[in-house]
Amino acid sequence: MTHLHARFPGLDLGHLRLGAVPTPVRPLEGIPALAGTEVWLKDESRFGDGGWAGNKVRKLEWILPEAERRGVRTLFTVGGIGTHWGLACARYGAEHGFQVVLGLVDQPVDDHVREQLARLEASGAVIHRYPTPGRLRLAAPWLIARYTRARLPWYLPAGGSNPVGTLGYVETALEIADQVVRGELPEPGTVVVPVGSGGTIAGLALGFRLAGLRTRVFGAVVNDSFPLDAPVLARLATRTGALLTERGATGVPEIRPDDLTARDDWLGTTYGDPTPASRAMVTAAGAIGLELEPVYTGKALAAVADLGPELDGPVLWLNTHGPR
Ligand SMILES: Cc1ncc(COP(=O)(O)O)c(C=O)c1O
Repeated sequence: MTHLHARFPGLDLGHLRLGAVPTPVRPLEGIPALAGTEVWLKDESRFGDGGWAGNKVRKLEWILPEAERRGVRTLFTVGGIGTHWGLACARYGAEHGFQVVLGLVDQPVDDHVREQLARLEASGAVIHRYPTPGRLRLAAPWLIARYTRARLPWYLPAGGSNPVGTLGYVETALEIADQVVRGELPEPGTVVVPVGSGGTIAGLALGFRLAGLRTRVFGAVVNDSFPLDAPVLARLATRTGALLTERGATGVPEIRPDDLTARDDWLGTTYGDPTPASRAMVTAAGAIGLELEPVYTGKALAAVADLGPELDGPVLWLNTHGPR
């Protein structure tokens, strides 16, 4: 049973277990740039199936059963050519019998992105590529029409960050609260995550409020393709709360912009720019056996290193990870 179903008996929302819970927590030691700050790690990199793991799988646990419930056969989603979300959606979608159509937009290419694109091409998903987000937006109605059979495809926004997908990180916040109660880690003052489409931070913000923790979420915004400021993220959290209420939950709080922090200081020039600070974190984390990448996890860890004691501690950093 999920924490959400335990918390709200009778909650009318399906859930499909795809990863082993709880994901492990431990002190994050051995990275010189973090010296002087108490930092804990919650390792999402093993959530899911082997190389298919990572934070997007949390969202699919709620999205796939909801797609079944809606009678949908095709999932249509979008992202950059290195999209972790698109790859997770393609693999798990195919495994559960859905056709997956991906609209992919060019982004700066490094080895990781090149490898991700090759995996996307091998995933069985139908792929359409565009040079800019604007061109993809123009093509979207045509794509939806083209892949409509008996029913419209379900359009899932970038990163799977609709209210249904965001439930994955409401659930994760309740999981963290449970780990605090069980003494596996101290109550975090701040949880730090990358913000690529917003579902991770929005779900955590709502989940910590539901759990009654004092923990605040801090997001390093790594995507400039669409607005991801605190009002936008708080709105997603509140829409997710409204979904819970609609499906039978009671007493769900509203999330306001000042309930969370989102800063783009670690973005670099654009989405996917592998900044020197992010690359340095990928190298430092690699030395202690953590496999990061410079687009998301490297930037969020660079934020922890830069802000250090300015963050209310203890700090919990989520290794959100993407499928490989
Ligand atoms: C590895 C990784 N971490 C974090 C994120 C950000 O999560 P969200 O899209 O929910 O903001 C993503 C995707 O965008 C990701 O692939």
